[in-house]
Amino acid sequence: MRLTIDKSIKEIPYYPKAALYGGDSGWVRLSSNENPNGPSPKAVESIVESVFALNRYPESEYELKSALAGKYALKPENIIIGNGSNEIIETSFRALRYEGKDEALLPAPSFAFYPIAAKIYGYRPKIVPLRDLKIEPEAMADEIGERTRIVILNNPNNPTGTIFEDAQFRRFLERLPDEILVVVDEAYAEFVDSPAFPRSTDYIADHPVLILRTFSKAYGLAGLRVGYGIAGQEIVSYLERTKQPFSVNMMALVAAKAALTDERYLKTVLEGNRSGKSYLYRALTEMGVPFYPSEANFFLIKVGPGADDVTKRLFEAKVLVRSMSAYDLPDFIRVTVGTADENRAFIEALRRSLP
Ligand SMILES: Cc1ncc(COP(=O)(O)O)c(C=O)c1O
Repeated sequence: MRLTIDKSIKEIPYYPKAALYGGDSGWVRLSSNENPNGPSPKAVESIVESVFALNRYPESEYELKSALAGKYALKPENIIIGNGSNEIIETSFRALRYEGKDEALLPAPSFAFYPIAAKIYGYRPKIVPLRDLKIEPEAMADEIGERTRIVILNNPNNPTGTIFEDAQFRRFLERLPDEILVVVDEAYAEFVDSPAFPRSTDYIADHPVLILRTFSKAYGLAGLRVGYGIAGQEIVSYLERTKQPFSVNMMALVAAKAALTDERYLKTVLEGNRSGKSYLYRALTEMGVPFYPSEANFFLIKVGPGADDVTKRLFEAKVLVRSMSAYDLPDFIRVTVGTADENRAFIEALRRSLP
């Protein structure tokens, strides 16, 4: 190839994407923590209306920012919109570049994209293991060093579904030295029922905290790719400088804004998730299969040694779940809560797939 590639890029795993289950509708997709309910009808309607303006660049970012600012009682200048929250993870690494500060503190197991983004932008990931499958913010603070520039916390944490609480977050922030950005990825926050979950927007005025949210999960718009970040205005201004202009397309912007107003849809999604989780917990308890209760729309199930085999057998039954062997949890699978029918199909297939 006559090109020498940097080691940090070579280390990033590469999975060529094969069209394994593309056009076939028979699959039960419980592997990517998607919303099983279809998109909000209001979002769909807004997309239909927007298509006649597709000859224009998407100028409506500010309208979505204003709508979000209203929701959080903040200013539009506190909000950054991204092509999925993934784009904002990348943007934060780009904007925070600073000589001599090249370490990113990351929890593990957690969302697989964090170490990838860190490496792409020349940071050295420093991994802090979970404790009892939970992110312990103070254990992260213990690992902060001279070169630390970014700390990522995921709340609820993917893949464990566990949360850290407001008091824990406050103690962590009190110990935080200067020159460090704290990214709090709250992709699944809408699903949380615990009253102890941090109101993290309360901290952005006094701390370098960037909160990430997404329309991919509770709002059911994963296919459109739209997420957002919330932070102090100065932080947002630097993130904006390093982000592609118009990175979020027009249909995504209008659909996200419409989805925000669709309270009925969100209520249906959250109730479906709660009742789906109760059903799955009950069925697994009856089967004697251990699992970890979660605050999100997915949870871990301990299937014993051979999670890869169980995942493969479920795949043969056209049920997609995620084996956790690549996450250093070789006894576990992660399953997303589906529709009532999908949850039943999963339990039936699991009965036949366990060793
Ligand atoms: C913890 C976490 N953060 C971010 C994302 C990415 O979300 P988006 O679709 O907004 O890029 C995911 C997607 O699975 C996730 O699990």
